Amino acid sequence: RPQAAKAADLLVWYDRHRRVLPWRALPGERPDPYRVWVSEIMLQQTTIAAVKPYFERFMARFPTVEALAAAPSEDVMQAWAGLGYYSRARNLHACAKAVAERHGGVFPDSEDGLRELPGIGAYTAGAVAAIAFDRPAAAVDGNVERVMTRLFAIDEPLPGSKPLIREQVLALLPHQRPGDFAQALMDLGATICTPRSPACGLCPWREPCEARQAGTQETYPRKQPK
Ligand code: ADE
Repeated sequence: RPQAAKAADLLVWYDRHRRVLPWRALPGERPDPYRVWVSEIMLQQTTIAAVKPYFERFMARFPTVEALAAAPSEDVMQAWAGLGYYSRARNLHACAKAVAERHGGVFPDSEDGLRELPGIGAYTAGAVAAIAFDRPAAAVDGNVERVMTRLFAIDEPLPGSKPLIREQVLALLPHQRPGDFAQALMDLGATICTPRSPACGLCPWREPCEARQAGTQETYPRKQPK
């Protein structure tokens, strides 16, 4: 019987292979919740490569949540121009104003508090709580869905399997470094556990991965036929 997947093995891998990203704190540094939040909104429908230059320009122009809240909406829309899905930019501005007005410019540090803000849904609340505040929260995006459905050979198709995937992430969460764990899962999905030809030989979870044992890794995640 193979041993169960352990968060510790993923964190060891992350310590060796973590990607340097402009919104990501260096080891031992505290992340800036404002930068984490903006990056997660930008990354929702846009790739990391496309987001990077926009993120840097956006931060130069609006360095704090207070600066963003105080800016005219035309300036915010202009800084967003090219990223698409403009409702994200309108919600971003509304959220900055809410944080400035209701919370004195300080982001709430819990998933529930974050969920009450405009444009922050389950994914973003989990991601910001985990990454910015090191809270034990699940941040399940498409990459994480792929990793988890392979690791546990979850045959139920998406989206029906979402609650189970979330449960499995919560069950794996480490008490120490839940923020790094969330980012490690995203990095694993983006760089190793890719949709086609995953690099299973390099994966810290190659032993416990149920799909890999069966040789069926590329068939996950299963999707409901339309
Ligand atoms: N995709 C979405 N959020 C991400 C993050 N924080 N790190 C890497 N990839 C991501």
